Amino acid sequence: MTLNREVHLMSRPSGRPVPEDFALVTRPIPSPEPGQVVVRNLFMSLDPGTRLRMEDLGLPIPAFALGRPMTGDAIGEVVESAAPGLRPGDLVRHPHAWRDYAVAEAADFRPVDRDAYPSPSHHLNSGLIAYVGMVEIAAVRPGDTVYVSSAAGAVGGLAGQIARLKGASRVVGSAGSPAKAEFVTGVLGFDAAYDRHSATRPRDLAPGGVDVYFDNVGGSGLEDAIDAMNPHGRIVLCGAMERQSGGGDQGPRNLLAVIGKRLTLRGFTAFDHPGVAPRFAEEFGAWVRNGEIVLHETVVDGLENGVTALLAQLDGAYVGKVVLRP
Ligand SMILES: NC(=O)c1ccc[n+]([C@@H]2O[C@H](COP(=O)([O-])OP(=O)(O)OC[C@H]3O[C@@H](n4cnc5c(N)ncnc54)[C@H](OP(=O)(O)O)[C@@H]3O)[C@@H](O)[C@H]2O)c1
Repeated sequence: MTLNREVHLMSRPSGRPVPEDFALVTRPIPSPEPGQVVVRNLFMSLDPGTRLRMEDLGLPIPAFALGRPMTGDAIGEVVESAAPGLRPGDLVRHPHAWRDYAVAEAADFRPVDRDAYPSPSHHLNSGLIAYVGMVEIAAVRPGDTVYVSSAAGAVGGLAGQIARLKGASRVVGSAGSPAKAEFVTGVLGFDAAYDRHSATRPRDLAPGGVDVYFDNVGGSGLEDAIDAMNPHGRIVLCGAMERQSGGGDQGPRNLLAVIGKRLTLRGFTAFDHPGVAPRFAEEFGAWVRNGEIVLHETVVDGLENGVTALLAQLDGAYVGKVVLRP
């Protein structure tokens, strides 16, 4: 009998999670009931948002149940089907990550095109989030100066590249080390980037001021960006890594400048904009096919290493999209 390994959340962390908050549980794979399929997971998305779901914060997505497998985006291959419409060998995207095999109703599994990307893992890219934030919410336009925090990350790296493709005249970013800043300019093609632990700040890289700030970090990073904004600048609030990594909220303390500069700050989630998906798929797909956008990823092997990798991700250990290959 094939066994299934699952990663369960066992206790709700306060501050930084520790390995003891999780358990790797092994149990038999149930046979699919009528209408269900069995999917072998090939890649799972590692997301800092997973940290938020360990607590009940009243977010649009519910908190994880204790003693149950965590969930998250995954790509897998159907190995057994008791449902019409899905056959063994089909490549599917679904929300049942953090386990070797997913067994669930067929409606949870969306078939995806094997030829859309060079690797099945690329189906887990963060392009839609970056696109919604940069194109729909910030409404980036030709000539804008754009600043992106966590620019070496999955969302930030794509947000900056999308801004450039949409005509931004200057795209700058911040990341967690000099090597990451070099990756942001050398590989992702930003005009400039700085190490957020150095004395450099966004206004140093954008002397003419910032028109659009794509915020992945909140806290003191948002405060620095407000300092650099031009009047009537637009700030999109995508993530709060300063808080998510266990550092608390360190600001912003300069909200008066938001009024003085007539800034717009708008939070968003990609889930609120399902209508954008077809336009995104067409435009982003063409950028990928034409080699106009870099889809960089870090692959971590072994479900047993997933929790360690998630904690390392919160500490900034990786570049690009992080995927786990169970
Ligand atoms: N609104 C939405 O719909 C939506 C959807 C998906 C993701 N998100 C959010 O978007 C953000 C980025 O997600 P992602 O998947 O692209 O993650 P990511 O940027 O690839 O990874 C997180 C990065 O955050 C940075 N970081 C860690 N601690 C930090 C701190 N104290 N201050 C500043 N930066 C810190 C680290 O990069 P450096 O060390 O290089 O700084 C780390 O690599 C997350 O907050 C995520 O939850 C939002």
